[in-house]
Amino acid sequence: MQKIRHLIEPSDLTNLEIEQLVDLGLKIFDDPAQYAQKCRGKILASLFYEPSTRTKFSFDSAMLRLGGNIIGFADPDSTSDKKGESLTDTIRVISYYADIAVMRHPKEGAPLLASKQAEIPIINGGDGGHQHPTQTLTDLITIKRFKGSLKNHVVAFQGDLKYGRTVHSLIKTLARFDTKKFILISPPELRLPSSLKRQLLKNYPALAIEEVNHLSDVVTQIDILYCTRIQKERFFNEEDYLKLKNSYILDKAGISAAKADMIIMHPLPRVNEIAYEVDDDPRAIYFEQSKMGVYVRMALIMTLLGVA
Ligand code: NCD
Repeated sequence: MQKIRHLIEPSDLTNLEIEQLVDLGLKIFDDPAQYAQKCRGKILASLFYEPSTRTKFSFDSAMLRLGGNIIGFADPDSTSDKKGESLTDTIRVISYYADIAVMRHPKEGAPLLASKQAEIPIINGGDGGHQHPTQTLTDLITIKRFKGSLKNHVVAFQGDLKYGRTVHSLIKTLARFDTKKFILISPPELRLPSSLKRQLLKNYPALAIEEVNHLSDVVTQIDILYCTRIQKERFFNEEDYLKLKNSYILDKAGISAAKADMIIMHPLPRVNEIAYEVDDDPRAIYFEQSKMGVYVRMALIMTLLGVA
């Protein structure tokens, strides 16, 4: 029997596999009709123990667009979780009912634990402040579409770099694709975890990483500006969140000196960190980014089910 492939973190994929997923996603985007029956008869279980709009619905949409079906829940209180069933028991049973599953969970490591018991591929749809590999694939397909290549960019991350799992997954992955420089823009309280920074510098000694407090100090250098929401649900107390929640609000004036071909990304949802006036700027591509999530997830489902 073929070994079951899971996607728990981006390092489960080689660079070649990532490029193949991105390229397949772009092919599907160009001609979705070609793929409309690829997963006919297959079932995706979407298991969301934490709120989600884009990740859940784009996975559901991806499976339906491939001709497959979906089962699942968006509220664990409607399941035996509420009665105290363990995650591992739940996943064993779901393995009998579906062919592939995506799971979001507030506890870091929960999808990894589930994958040890599962007889079907498990995809991590976000685990706590840890990793979010399919958002990374979404980000990469967007970068490829709008910048032509994954390589040699100056990439700035702004916002909650401490708790933002999308940042943690993307920065580790982009480092594998010859990123020219990372610029980290955050209040001192929300800096990128030092263990992650150390790991990046150890693995990529030539990598340039600059940490600043304000976008205005670096705006002219940036090719890709990746903004994030302050992750309210990860704070230990409300007071700390309130102090930091409006640390950055990107507005038109703030990007007036930026490159004409800089792209502004955001995994969404935005709360306050990008003013609505920025949406009209041609460099603002965050809604296109969420659109691309469907196509790269179609590519991922097909690949993990062995029908790509
Ligand atoms: C992100 C997440 O859940 O980590 N959302 C998403 O999947 N697009 C970002 C966030 O919630 O801030």
